[in-house]
Amino acid sequence: MQKGADKLEPQMKTIFEPFRIKSVEPIRVTTREERALLIREAEFNPFTLKSEDVMIDLLTDSGTGAMSAAQWAAVMQGDESYAGSPSFFRFEAAVKNLTNFKHVIPTHQGRAAEAILFSMMGGLGRHIPNNTHFDTTRGNIEASGAKGADLVIDEGLDPQSLHPFKGNMDLGKLKTYLENHGDAVPCIMLTITNNAGGGQPVSLENIHAVGLIAKEYGKPFIIDGCRFAENAWFIKQREAGQSDRSITEIVRDCFAQADGMTMSAKKDAFGNIGGWLALNDDNLAEVARGHLIRTEGFPTYGGLSGRDLEALAQGLIEIVDEDYLRYRIRTNAYIVEKLDAMGVPVVKPAGGHAVFIDARAWLPHIDPLSYPGQAVSVALYELGGIRAVEIGTVMFGRQPDGSELPAPMDLVRLAFPRRTYTQSHADYIIEVFQELITIKDRLKGYRITSEQKLLRHFTCKFEPLG
Ligand code: F0G
Repeated sequence: MQKGADKLEPQMKTIFEPFRIKSVEPIRVTTREERALLIREAEFNPFTLKSEDVMIDLLTDSGTGAMSAAQWAAVMQGDESYAGSPSFFRFEAAVKNLTNFKHVIPTHQGRAAEAILFSMMGGLGRHIPNNTHFDTTRGNIEASGAKGADLVIDEGLDPQSLHPFKGNMDLGKLKTYLENHGDAVPCIMLTITNNAGGGQPVSLENIHAVGLIAKEYGKPFIIDGCRFAENAWFIKQREAGQSDRSITEIVRDCFAQADGMTMSAKKDAFGNIGGWLALNDDNLAEVARGHLIRTEGFPTYGGLSGRDLEALAQGLIEIVDEDYLRYRIRTNAYIVEKLDAMGVPVVKPAGGHAVFIDARAWLPHIDPLSYPGQAVSVALYELGGIRAVEIGTVMFGRQPDGSELPAPMDLVRLAFPRRTYTQSHADYIIEVFQELITIKDRLKGYRITSEQKLLRHFTCKFEPLG
């Protein structure tokens, strides 16, 4: 993979995958005819496809990564005691080493941590700001009766803006929001990286500033830290004065500004499952643990087995490795550069865990309410067996009052599982886009034929428009 100037290794142009493959999973190769049938059977929703029918699965980077030999070895040390397992204490120590939060409450995944948090902080009449709430975060907020607000900077909504930290919170909007909603705001959230906004990072300066505003207004500051290591890599690369600090130092600095975090350990903890809620406040933590016992399990395992906790403890050591992060971020940048040169509108600069296509700009002949992002993701599957996900009007268009509005952007996300695919997979993906360019003007929009009330995109069914 060709890279741009990288002062760490000026003499070499190629960043190779910094691992060897010890164990492989075969990919079933399908034909275009087969895939046309399969996607029709799935009612044009890639979530409904069987994963065996997908050749390159970029639906999510969540829980889909490859564990290391050291993680698999750690799995064998899992102690499955119901209470007080040493696996929990190793997990807790690994989380505290990076975050220093006082209470670490394991959950089976990130959304379970969110559900516990909003069982305490949500509720009718409450208002919760974030740079951009991820869909499950918003889902949990709304299910509690509260309202979520996305206050990312304007550049974060402009796919072409080259702002280095497009995930930043708009501090002016945040203050106005706090003035307007006063006591109805139970906490301030910040998602690093900003997944729904293109996997864009938040600067350390912005994290500090949000922390200060939270203190000024007396609100707990909760970081959704799913991709904290990728965010720290961007800070190290792009933010003045940060290049000489280690990733661990930067990560600690980020979390030191906050009062707690929610985490999906399926992302930057190299887990196939797992999550946690961390809090500094003793009283809140006690209430949270009570909820945990009711819904997830005893506080020293949450929704996880001892072996899961061991894998995460080891994953948290590996995730801050700079060789890994350099390769990880470079993979996306490589694809973004090639697609950009081919004229495919991509969110720039490249995000941390995914490549985002601006489907609204690419298919202007499809109205946002006919889901241009869905058209692109169905076409990627038919042409190349690639599974991507629409992040746009299908995901966010349905309003709490039942009406439907175009989402701020219609993106298609190609999310990369960690340590799973290689450069030839990346080159294949680029080739599929070359093919897609030749037919994209003929792609049609879609109509939703059935949907759930909340989080409809996972299960809704589609029909192509005439
Ligand atoms: N917050 C963010 C920013 C996320 O990206 C996710 C999950 C969650 C919370 C919820 O965590 O899945 O462990 O319950 N994102 C995945 C994705 C599903 O594909 O982006 P979870």
